[in-house]
Amino acid sequence: MFEHVEAFPGDPILSLNEDFQVDPRANKVNLSIGMYFDAHGNLPLMAAVRDAENALASEIKAHPYLPMSGLPSYRDTVQQLVFGNACGARTQRLIATLQTLGGSGALKVGADFLRRIFPDAQVWISDPSWENHRVVFERAGFTVNTYPYYSSTTGGLCFDEMLHALRAIPQRHILLLHACCHNPTGVDLDRNQWREVILIIAKNKLLPFVDLAYQGFGVDLDDDAFAVRELTAHGLSCLVANSFSKNFSLYGERCGGLSVVCQSTNEASRVLGQLTGVVRANYSNPPTYGAKIVHRVLCTPALRALWQSELAAMCKRISAMRHLIYQRLRSYFADDKLSHYIRQRGMFTYTGLSAEQVNRLRIEHGVYLVRSGRMCIAGLNEQNVIVVADAIANVLLDRKKSKSSQI
Ligand code: LMR
Repeated sequence: MFEHVEAFPGDPILSLNEDFQVDPRANKVNLSIGMYFDAHGNLPLMAAVRDAENALASEIKAHPYLPMSGLPSYRDTVQQLVFGNACGARTQRLIATLQTLGGSGALKVGADFLRRIFPDAQVWISDPSWENHRVVFERAGFTVNTYPYYSSTTGGLCFDEMLHALRAIPQRHILLLHACCHNPTGVDLDRNQWREVILIIAKNKLLPFVDLAYQGFGVDLDDDAFAVRELTAHGLSCLVANSFSKNFSLYGERCGGLSVVCQSTNEASRVLGQLTGVVRANYSNPPTYGAKIVHRVLCTPALRALWQSELAAMCKRISAMRHLIYQRLRSYFADDKLSHYIRQRGMFTYTGLSAEQVNRLRIEHGVYLVRSGRMCIAGLNEQNVIVVADAIANVLLDRKKSKSSQI
């Protein structure tokens, strides 16, 4: 029966993370997967999450199914966090929000929904983008194209090329955007650039699908949602996938949300109905536990304040690591082509290392980066940052020797 099944080539991020787990070397360093590790290299259990769990433990009850769309109170808090309290579309009930299995689940439910209602549309993702974006939309049946985004020359955004490409995208095609902390490059649009993109979206009638997987890791919770809120304030229809994997350190609980901004309450209710139909056809209904934790934290003022301060501390630590690795690399390389380490933001930096150099880092030094050269800065700490910088310098200097080339 399964004779003809081909071997799975592996996933560029998750399979690498699994390889890391079984690597026996004691001094290995995992900078591959987008997960936040603390100053001691441990995955944190946030104090706000722990307190919420303790409170939930005293309310042990039976385990019914959740509705297909998820826990209603959770859906409301998701909407509030993503769109803000002052959002007119929210008070007018123009937004359909449902609980999803993390951000990936939101993308998948959104993709399946869109494929049914826009069968002729194509999807446009940034070049580069998170590897799974292409996979999710192609598996939903879409043709996936790219628009220019990152300049390897400057280590920043190639905004003019991006705008030029966006202007040529046909009406009612789907435009995938990263709200903040672009994955994999760490390069974001500023507010004025977002405004220009939004003008094109409105004029050319594109359908934005915004991935908000890292809310709170850029500037702060509100600023990171700027693109979403600006689209909504312009009265544009859009989809937003958000996740609590990173900002609550709740990876395995698969907590996320999908929101669709509509033009009327009636439309939003029909869209929500269709989304629940997609959920039913895929996995019936989402799990309860993580949603209860997130809801408890966000709705308890003291826990919410604690959570926000813990999240801010995570960002501060990531920023400190950016500076440390930058300083150490600067002791090897005098030119300023390394400044992307401190200019890019969020969990990731696009190092510019080639696949071959990434391979050498892993094999010779036990330092794991994604093949594209993406480094998860959140995996650095004061014990490993020097080792990592020295390993990178080592690999780069070898290259210099053999090819007299530059970083
Ligand atoms: C990442 O980009 O490393 C994370 O979002 C984890 C994943 O699922 O790929």
